[in-house]
Amino acid sequence: MQTDQGASYAGILGIGAYRPARLVPNAEIVDAIDSSDEWIQQRSGIKTRGFADDSETVVAMSVAASRDALAHAGVDPRQVDCVIVATVSHLLQTPSAATAVAHELGTDQAAAFDISAACAGFCHGVALASDLVRGGSARYVLVIGVERLSDITSNTDRGTAFIFADGAGAAVIGPSETPAIGPVVWGSDGEQYDLIRQREDWRDVLASDSPEMPHLVMQGNAVFRWASYSMAKVAQQALDRAGITVDELDCFVPHQANNRITDAMARAMKLPAHVRIARDIVDAGNTSAASVPLALERMIRDGDAKSGDVALLVAFGAGLAYAAQVVTIPWDPPPPP
Ligand code: COA
Repeated sequence: MQTDQGASYAGILGIGAYRPARLVPNAEIVDAIDSSDEWIQQRSGIKTRGFADDSETVVAMSVAASRDALAHAGVDPRQVDCVIVATVSHLLQTPSAATAVAHELGTDQAAAFDISAACAGFCHGVALASDLVRGGSARYVLVIGVERLSDITSNTDRGTAFIFADGAGAAVIGPSETPAIGPVVWGSDGEQYDLIRQREDWRDVLASDSPEMPHLVMQGNAVFRWASYSMAKVAQQALDRAGITVDELDCFVPHQANNRITDAMARAMKLPAHVRIARDIVDAGNTSAASVPLALERMIRDGDAKSGDVALLVAFGAGLAYAAQVVTIPWDPPPPP
């Protein structure tokens, strides 16, 4: 039997983003949940979030972010061998969003499938893509994190209405001459399966007298404690596995769950002052699977992450599922439009 031999190393070759046109300030959220702009900013850091309109579907946002990523990578869509979409808010059970995305991009020959790892989905996709490239199963892989959480969030739920948002981020993963994606540290804690979840399963919804969308529910306090305590350890393990110290790190790009969780992780890891920290949540809210690539794209666009910089990604969410890895920032930011 013959086997495939892939590239020695894989790297992120391009990053792209799609942000919904409509930005919703806290003022528009607060009345329905008896809250205030001040409380939301203090507890989460969020000032605005993007809510998609009817035309900004999971597939449409994925395609737009992917085109951006492919252009930055200089990779033609027809060269893509595999499309991975990480999402929990593509509301069609089957077929996958990825096959539609691949078709719209003109990559019909590509393998295409969705993965469900909630807010950790993009980092799971990067780990899979890196191994596909190094294993020889694919040369170029498109990894997309995309959500329309506004469809599955109740605007009257005090624990979630101000947090969750919409958007898409994409990365092209391909061969690299130097190591540019470190080993993944990933795992799950199913004992805490109920901390963030769809309220009830579809059969229960349909059996009810007045069926309504089963929204997300979250035990915010428990999630906060788990993430602040455990995810700094996971992030540190990803650094250790890559052989990188915090002093060698340039950028920290955690899942944009809550600025206070980010602060707690940075303190626990004793990140030096020179490490630039992603704060995309302030404008974009928590976009689950899209949050890490959106935050990365923002840092590159703002000049906070430069070509060759070493960035630590860590993402965590429902499941509970988590994944972290060190990556190298691939290219200089494109000139402003
Ligand atoms: N607006 C105003 N007040 C609110 C509120 C809201 N939306 N939600 C809760 N409160 C109030 C409560 O009534 C309570 O008041 P009390 O002290 O008078 O009883 C107080 O705020 C504290 O409630 P609690 O539920 O303990 O809030 P918290 O401090 O845990 O903050 C979150 C709530 C959601 C901001 C916080 O738990 C959190 O950020 N968790 C992590 C969530 C997250 O990042 N999830 C994404 C993971 S993928």
